[in-house]
Amino acid sequence: MNKYSTLKGVCDIVPPDDKLWDFIEEISKEVFSIYGFKNIRIPVIEYTELFKRGIGEGTDIVEKEMYTFSDRSGRSITLRPEGTASVVRSYIENNLSDLPSPQKFFYLGPMFRYERPQKGRYRQFYQIGAEVFGSSNPSTDAEIFSMLNMFLDKVGLTNTQLQINSIGCPICRPNYISSLIEFFSKHSDNLCTDCQNRLQKNPLRLLDCKNEGCGIIKKDAPLITQSLCGECVNHHNQLKHLLDLQGISFIENPLIVRGLDYYTKTAFEITADHIGAQNTVIAGGRYDNLVHEFGGAKTPAIGFAIGLERLALLLKDKEMIDKKVPLIYFAILGDKALDKALLMAKKYRKEGLWVEIGNPSDSLKSQMKKADKFNAESVIIIGENEINSGIAIKKRMNDGVQEEVNIN
Ligand code: HAM
Repeated sequence: MNKYSTLKGVCDIVPPDDKLWDFIEEISKEVFSIYGFKNIRIPVIEYTELFKRGIGEGTDIVEKEMYTFSDRSGRSITLRPEGTASVVRSYIENNLSDLPSPQKFFYLGPMFRYERPQKGRYRQFYQIGAEVFGSSNPSTDAEIFSMLNMFLDKVGLTNTQLQINSIGCPICRPNYISSLIEFFSKHSDNLCTDCQNRLQKNPLRLLDCKNEGCGIIKKDAPLITQSLCGECVNHHNQLKHLLDLQGISFIENPLIVRGLDYYTKTAFEITADHIGAQNTVIAGGRYDNLVHEFGGAKTPAIGFAIGLERLALLLKDKEMIDKKVPLIYFAILGDKALDKALLMAKKYRKEGLWVEIGNPSDSLKSQMKKADKFNAESVIIIGENEINSGIAIKKRMNDGVQEEVNIN
């Protein structure tokens, strides 16, 4: 038995999945840069307070899921459970508002949440996130969806569903929360323990509960769409118009409330039903007040994050990684052949080719088997004859076509 293993809910990403992950990351960088996003690298650790303020004290993430510890100076530190709070902090701290507006950033890396692990839900997971600052216009929301459509198209993921909602603003949401509290208080005895807690601390999250009993109750709950103020209604209608205009299909789901407190107006999820219960691959929304709450100027913002493990699960079975670097495999007999192969490998690698060199003490047969396992594009055999003549044969594996190469 292995002496050590990963922590529960933490995975290694090992070959052949590395190619799939590289592919997803490359496509995201390619697509995001077309839309003007710049890469931002944010720390994995932050002061705990940042997430408490940003994500919200009453949220599941802050209440039960953060990896929080004291450092050697006794400060409370947390492994980031998400990226938005850090990007907002960095935006203010580095005066990024001085860049041409709207400022657009993306980031990529591991996040940490102490959740109950299951397929598609881990304790360390990767996100590719993006944030836009400085535009309150619904056209920015629409542009995000157009970018995500291009991204999903390029990675080859079809059959996804964009679900949108508006969760209002500080003007209209308090009224809605009051009506929710009034409604659910009448049913409080029949709510699950989590929801009884939510009723006190985070009533909006009552709509998000997956418990069957709570589900029956919430069917009759008041909907936020009935409580939105004029500005929020206009924003939402304008967004829907722009989505229609671009031919981006969506469904309206008034039950999308999201698990983080910072959202205002647009909230959305992109789901794919065939990966099981954890079917939200991308999620995000507007957060027009967070920069100001963190001490910056009033700055509207919107963003999203893609869950890499979930996306990789969806793409795993697809044959979409044809961008392979061709491999030249040297099958070599003896140490002199090794010298030649090493020098030639240097040249080929400079040209961007992938080179593997066999073990000179292995038989030719076993080296050829290895070349086959590696799926080599071509093989060059170097033995005594080749060293004497200075010429070796480069053989293409798929069709046997041969070509002479000078090994000196
Ligand atoms: P979130 O909904 O908490 O939003 O996470 C975004 C995505 O990360 C989810 O849709 C899912 O694909 C993935 N994800 C979340 N938790 C896990 C987990 N335990 N295991 C695997 N994948 C997971 C945010 O994090 C916001 N910061 C998004 C955002 C950016 N909103 C505005 N800007």
